Amino acid sequence: MIPYLDLKRVTESFEPELSRTVEKSIQRGWYIRGKECENFEKSFAKFCGTDFCIGVGNGLDALTLIFKAYVQMGRLHLGDRIIVPANTYIASVLAISNAGLVPVLTDPDPLTYNLSVEGVQKALTPQVKGILAVDLYGRAIPGKELFEFAKIHDLILVEDAAQGHGALENHKRAGSFGDAAGFSFYPGKNLGALGDAGAVTTSDGELAKVIRMLANYGSEQKYVNLLKGMNSRLDELQAAVLSCKLNRLDADNAKRTSIAERYLKNILNPLVILPNPGKPGEHVWHIFALRTSYRKALQEHLTQAGVGTLIHYPIPPHRQEAYAEFGELYFPIAEDLADTELSIPLYPQMTEDEILKVIEAVNEFHL
Ligand SMILES: Cc1ncc(COP(=O)(O)O)c(C=O)c1O
Repeated sequence: MIPYLDLKRVTESFEPELSRTVEKSIQRGWYIRGKECENFEKSFAKFCGTDFCIGVGNGLDALTLIFKAYVQMGRLHLGDRIIVPANTYIASVLAISNAGLVPVLTDPDPLTYNLSVEGVQKALTPQVKGILAVDLYGRAIPGKELFEFAKIHDLILVEDAAQGHGALENHKRAGSFGDAAGFSFYPGKNLGALGDAGAVTTSDGELAKVIRMLANYGSEQKYVNLLKGMNSRLDELQAAVLSCKLNRLDADNAKRTSIAERYLKNILNPLVILPNPGKPGEHVWHIFALRTSYRKALQEHLTQAGVGTLIHYPIPPHRQEAYAEFGELYFPIAEDLADTELSIPLYPQMTEDEILKVIEAVNEFHL
């Protein structure tokens, strides 16, 4: 069986350096808010091209903290509306709700599966004060256009970069397209920790300061609490793991791209729609998302052929019970993606034999 993702193999590819790094960090005897976190924050801010990075507990917290900080700073107010793609992972939508704001779901562009300026324009009302754009599947948002649009309309642009580590658009990296970005380092991400972890990147010093405080009980100085905060911090062991893996992120993304290029060139099945790669560097292929009207049959065929698959995502946020209030809404592109999307294995440690087998299995599918 070719697993959809083999995390053990991914981790082993960083050995023995990874274990040495972790061992060193254990022996240092300092596990929260120390040198490892500081070093990673510096390196990751540099990598993304932002002035600041704040390590936090996970990707959902990263996004929630950004919105909470804007409310704290008076830049957003409870009840303000935020445009977000209807086809995203539910965490994007939860981050908006968690901060007391209202998500305005919007259909994505049918080619890129990401928010477009046209889509945002259609959803814009006087109550909308911000946009949360998602680098879905690893494809960078149209960052430059969205940022210009946001500035003209006095909107905050937040980027959900949980799937976009290292993606480039108009010479900028994911994480630097808007006013602030939230990253997830969930183990399966292009840059993944060995547990939960996340980060915020921004070049807004005041925002960075408020987020850092909010993520640490609302405190800058131990036992002095200025804000009603939460506890969401990147621990030293995960920071050490991430620093070790960050050194290879560009090289691993290049490997992902070369596998994606092979798929795009050699998957020739007319029953399958291939993803749009965009310009060089725009897609870092966190997920290789096929589409087909015959998903159930294709998934069964691939399972029989020994190829693991996943669906991203089978139920869009507005169809979830958690968001019963959206029940009447209908988003044709998001619904269609939920019904037709199928992800095939793509990660840097795949063998040549596995890549060929995946291509062959998809091509052999027929009705
Ligand atoms: C698009 C998107 N946003 C947010 C998240 C939330 O990240 P985490 O699982 O680290 O909370 C994820 C990942 O799971 C994601 O894929």
